[in-house]
Order: sequence, then structure tokens, then C-alpha cells
Amino acid sequence: MSKFYKIPVAKVEKMTPDSVVITFDIPAKLKNAFAYKAGQHVIVKTQIDGADIRRTYSFCAAPCEGEFRISVRHIEDGVFSGFANNTLKAGDVLELSKPLGAFSLDPKPGATYVGIAAGSGITPILSMIRCVLAQDDDSRFFLYYGNRDAEHTMFRRELAALKNLHMDRFSYQLFLTRQAVDNPFWGGRIDGEKITQLHKTVFKGLDVAGYYLCGPKSMVDDTRESLIASGEPASNIHSELFFAGEDGPKRTAAKAQAKAKINVIMDGREVQVDYRDEHGSILEAALSSGLDVTFACKGGVCATCRAKVKAGQVDMGINYGLEPEEIDEGFVLTCQSVPLSKAVTISFDE
Ligand code: FES
Repeated sequence: MSKFYKIPVAKVEKMTPDSVVITFDIPAKLKNAFAYKAGQHVIVKTQIDGADIRRTYSFCAAPCEGEFRISVRHIEDGVFSGFANNTLKAGDVLELSKPLGAFSLDPKPGATYVGIAAGSGITPILSMIRCVLAQDDDSRFFLYYGNRDAEHTMFRRELAALKNLHMDRFSYQLFLTRQAVDNPFWGGRIDGEKITQLHKTVFKGLDVAGYYLCGPKSMVDDTRESLIASGEPASNIHSELFFAGEDGPKRTAAKAQAKAKINVIMDGREVQVDYRDEHGSILEAALSSGLDVTFACKGGVCATCRAKVKAGQVDMGINYGLEPEEIDEGFVLTCQSVPLSKAVTISFDE
């Protein structure tokens, strides 16, 4: 169930010309409910001009620091990102879900990790870096981070400070698309060719415990493919997509039933929902019948609407949020799914 908590904003700090860091003041009695793993996100909900706005943002602090911070980059025409960058101030109250998401890192002692990020994809990776460096004196993190120029690079100062503190355990390299660089290899976007080169020259010798990728789809796909082609097992590569737009992609057309009965299992109860063509997704059908189902992006990205198909058949249009193993186990993104059989049973409790 999508329970939201009213949480006061403690601080809003400008980080780059187009981004802010928001620190939340989580009340002591909710600290346990808000315990999170490095890499996880929250759904932020608020009303703007009468509309109910929900967005997902990853924590940029690390759980071990006991802080709750997110960062928001202003996207052109972005309703929430514009509000957060121009209007939001300390003392305002936003509604937050509990921390969510499977893109997370539980550092193992003495392990080495590689992060590859672009733009605001750095946010969950930064939380992971802080966690790994705090783990023990032998854990290491190597970061490769793409941006347009140094001025718009989020967390540039924090990364430099971490590097100064942990010279032998943390290194990072920027790729810049719109600023001159000494070595052409570090100019332009992160792509598969560059990752193949880095694998040959750096990663191969590191005994990497996990690769963590976060950024736009093209970068994440290219990077994943080139790591696999270089011999890395897919199970060692973890990723989360970041979209420049706020609405995400639209689902593709699928041959859905015009009408179907959906048995929705939620909080231990089973409720029957009538699906009709105009709903367009199982999530919308469930919301229309008044069920308090969790969702955020409605674009197949955040995976907060994940549920397991227990009976019947569904078709999922777009999926950027589920891992192949989750799909094999029968999980779908309900915002992207339509019924292919007259009756479907779907559980949000799994
Ligand atoms: S609501 Fe985000 S994937 Fe469905």
C-alpha cells in the first residue's frame, strides 16, 4: 500500500546552476521506517497547482551517515524539478514513501566495486560510494562519470573531498561532452567502446565484486553489453535508468482483453477489479476502483507498481524496471501491463 508520511524539509542547498540538494528532517519515531540501503529511492508526493505530483528520487547520502538527502536537477518544463529548484524552502513539508527499490549495494568487506554514471545518475551511486568507503579500510570504489562540463557536474566537490580522504581506495574519472579535455579518451559520452577499453586496461585486474550503472538507457545498455562481451557475468552488473524527461516512455500497444476480471491481492485481502479497455493498464484499473496501489512514474521505470501474476496472462509493454529473473518469477510492472486472459490474479504482496 502506498503509505506516505508528511516530512519537513530541513534544508534546500544549491549544488550546481541547475540542481539542489534537499535534506529531510525525519522525525525520530520514523527513523526505523526510513532505514534505507545505499542506492534506494523514495517517492516524493506533493500538490502543485492543484495536481497530485509524484516523482522518485534516490538518496545521495549513505545510510551509515544517518542523513536523508536527495538531489533534484531542474529539467526543462519539469513540474516538480522546477518547484524544487525555485520555490521549495526549509520548513516546507513534502510527503514521502518509505525507501524502495532493488538497485542497492550492501558492501562486502574488502571488496572492489565499479560505478558508471551519467548526469543525475550519480545520485544513487554516490550513496554507494560513501557506504563502500565507510565499510572498512580495504574496500575500494572506482567511478566513471559522464557530464556536459565541470560546472554542471553534480557532487563535484563531494567527490573531490572523498578522493582526498581516501586516496588509495577511491578514484573517479569524469567524461565531459562540452568541455575541452587533455586526453580525448575522456571527451564525449561514455559508450561501449570506451568501456571495452577500460575493461582491458583497468577492470580486468581489479576482481570487481559488482558493476553499478545509472544513467540514460543508451549508456546503460551500451555499458552492460560491452561488459558482458568482455566476459563479465550478467549477475554482476546492476543498473537503474535515469530519464531526462519526467514522464518516462509510453507503453506500446498490446492485444488486451477489452474487459477482464482482475483479482488483486493486497495487504492480505483479495479484491475484484473490473478492467476495461479505457483503463489502459492494470494499475489504472486498480486505482479507478479505489485501491491504494503504490506507483510513481507510470512509465515502466521505477518498478514501484511491481506485482506478481498468480493466475491468467498479461502483456507487459515497456520494462525498464524489472530484472530478467523477476520476470521469470512472474513479476510485472502493472502500469505497463494489460490482461490477455478474461481473468487475472495479481498480487502486490510478494
Ligand atoms: S509506476 Fe513506475 S514502473 Fe510502474
